[in-house]
Amino acid sequence: MSKSILSIDDLSDGDLDRLFCVAKEIKAKKYSKKFEAVMMTAFFEPSTRTRLSFEMAAHRLGIKVSTFTKENSSMIKGEDFRHTMSNLKALNPDVLVVRAEQKLEQGLSNIAVINAGDGVNEHPSQALLDSFTLLEHFQCEDLYGKRVLIMGDVGHSRVARSNIKLLKRLGASIVLLSPTGNIDDLEHVNNFNDLLGNFSAVMLLRLQKERIKDLSSYPKNFSLNKEKLFLKLKNCVVLHPGPMNIGEEIEEDVANCRESLIFRQVENGVHMRASMLAHCLS
Ligand code: NCD
Repeated sequence: MSKSILSIDDLSDGDLDRLFCVAKEIKAKKYSKKFEAVMMTAFFEPSTRTRLSFEMAAHRLGIKVSTFTKENSSMIKGEDFRHTMSNLKALNPDVLVVRAEQKLEQGLSNIAVINAGDGVNEHPSQALLDSFTLLEHFQCEDLYGKRVLIMGDVGHSRVARSNIKLLKRLGASIVLLSPTGNIDDLEHVNNFNDLLGNFSAVMLLRLQKERIKDLSSYPKNFSLNKEKLFLKLKNCVVLHPGPMNIGEEIEEDVANCRESLIFRQVENGVHMRASMLAHCLS
């Protein structure tokens, strides 16, 4: 069977250690292994960072890239998602990186599938690069003693779901500040003013407008500005998976402040995704 990564749950503690370790080696240019393999990307939802960083990662490892684009595929002629996926697998790439509107299921196949975000379910590569960025920033091997605030549209966020699983595994404690509900019975508040204590990091989430039926119920003024960051979240680093909606969940002054690790996340995304490809192909 292939080594797919559909969920953080597919990775053992040993896998996590190796993924972080190899990503670090790749970043330090101490990893020279090349792969005779083809990666196919199939994105059924829009993407900038995730697709391009998988493609950049593949190029760095000598992996050939084949790209499916929904807009000029036979889906326009009526072929559905399930049949499209069966055909992409029949083309036999060594690894298939998929972003879908629905939850991905592991079929019986020799092809390794990497989940690049499936509906509201999971986004494991984002969580891995987020934790890699935090471990690098704090220069530690785990996140015990770190308190992470996840702020925004948690209820519809696959980024939050994968991050919660991984941050917990690494020992972090998590607080949710979200008008769209709780996950996993975590500590949860609805208003910024109800937050207590200090945080090591705040992870901002975009309002998933494409997944919310009634946007009018989402509160205005839910964005993080510099005043809030400094008054309440002193010394706390800022993460955001992108795409940022400036003025909605984040203000420009926060996106570009000293505490922002947002572009470091993008850079690390290439290294972590290269590490994931190496994991799946080894
Ligand atoms: C996220 C996604 O697509 O889930 N973005 C990303 O992959 N960098 C977050 C989002 O769309 O809000």
